[in-house]
Amino acid sequence: MKILGIESSCDETAVSVVEDGRHVLSNMVVSQIEEHKLYGGVVPEIASRRHCESIVNVTNLALSEAGVALSEIDAVAVTYAPGLIGALLVGVNFAKGLALAAGKPLIPVHHIRGHIAANYLAYPELKPPFLCMVMSGGHSHIVWVKSYTEFEIIGRTRDDAVGEAYDKAARALGFSYPGGVQMDKAAKEGDPSHYHLPKPRVEGCPYDFSFSGLKTAVLNLINNSRQKGETVVINDVAAAFQATVCDLIADRLMRAAKERKADKIVLAGGVSANSGIRERMQKECQEAGMKLYMPPLCYCGDNAAMIASQGYFEFLNAAKAGMNLNGTASLPI
Ligand code: KG4
Ligand code: ZN
Repeated sequence: MKILGIESSCDETAVSVVEDGRHVLSNMVVSQIEEHKLYGGVVPEIASRRHCESIVNVTNLALSEAGVALSEIDAVAVTYAPGLIGALLVGVNFAKGLALAAGKPLIPVHHIRGHIAANYLAYPELKPPFLCMVMSGGHSHIVWVKSYTEFEIIGRTRDDAVGEAYDKAARALGFSYPGGVQMDKAAKEGDPSHYHLPKPRVEGCPYDFSFSGLKTAVLNLINNSRQKGETVVINDVAAAFQATVCDLIADRLMRAAKERKADKIVLAGGVSANSGIRERMQKECQEAGMKLYMPPLCYCGDNAAMIASQGYFEFLNAAKAGMNLNGTASLPI
């Protein structure tokens, strides 16, 4: 079964064709990052306008790269939540038009479910149940994936998502948007023991996170150092930040895995590209005798192959949308 996936929830216009949820026939992503960089973050109206301009061309490219005509597609899957509402509506309405014109079923896909499904593309043997850490610019969840379409949230952030904390700390250190990947590079050159950062806990909720406290600690460290006339060693702050994030994630994830008797741990979302988190989790899982799955870097960030993959499993579970499908800015997984 060939599914055309469409993703436009933030600043990537992406279209892909995936066969049977696992085999990528094409994966086109047009990023708007260079334009949003000028403003230090994603400007929602600009994002919607760029999706409008690109979506037809990106779809034609995805179909031609896959070597299939629209008539040979079996269904259209689209991200309908969560995300920037104006951006989501471009993809949703375009998908409706395509499905209506081609007489194909329309499948609504939750963006975070898509991030988890990115792993099915790379690991044909991977099947639920498993424990998953979803880390993106908008979400930080520890999820028990019961089946392809059933999810239980075990832990969550109480404030900033981990990617958001990375980007805000990076901005304070003088990196351009999105700073996560630059913090990751700087961290590799720094000494994590030069600065001490706190590891915030949420009282009574052992699997929850609070990343905004960590970000604030970085801002305070920078301000205090400047007031004292001391130079801030950027690589060392980045290294301390990354080491603290790794400790926080590894601590909660490994405890949750033991509690659930999980034998598989899966990482998902843009921040799963982080080299420190990948290395740390490899070490933790090796020591605990658990199997670790991490998306290849090309499937960590937003893409439509992950949406087409999840769309396949939603379709098998009879999730079909009507022509009244709407976008939703926030929606639990
Ligand atoms: O999943 P994603 O592409 O979009 C959302 O759904 O939010 O995640 C984007 C987030 C951004 O905050 C970005 O800075 C972060 O992922 N990110 C990283 C790295 N690469 C991307 N954060 C830390 N280290 C990285 N290597
Ligand atoms: Zn995402």
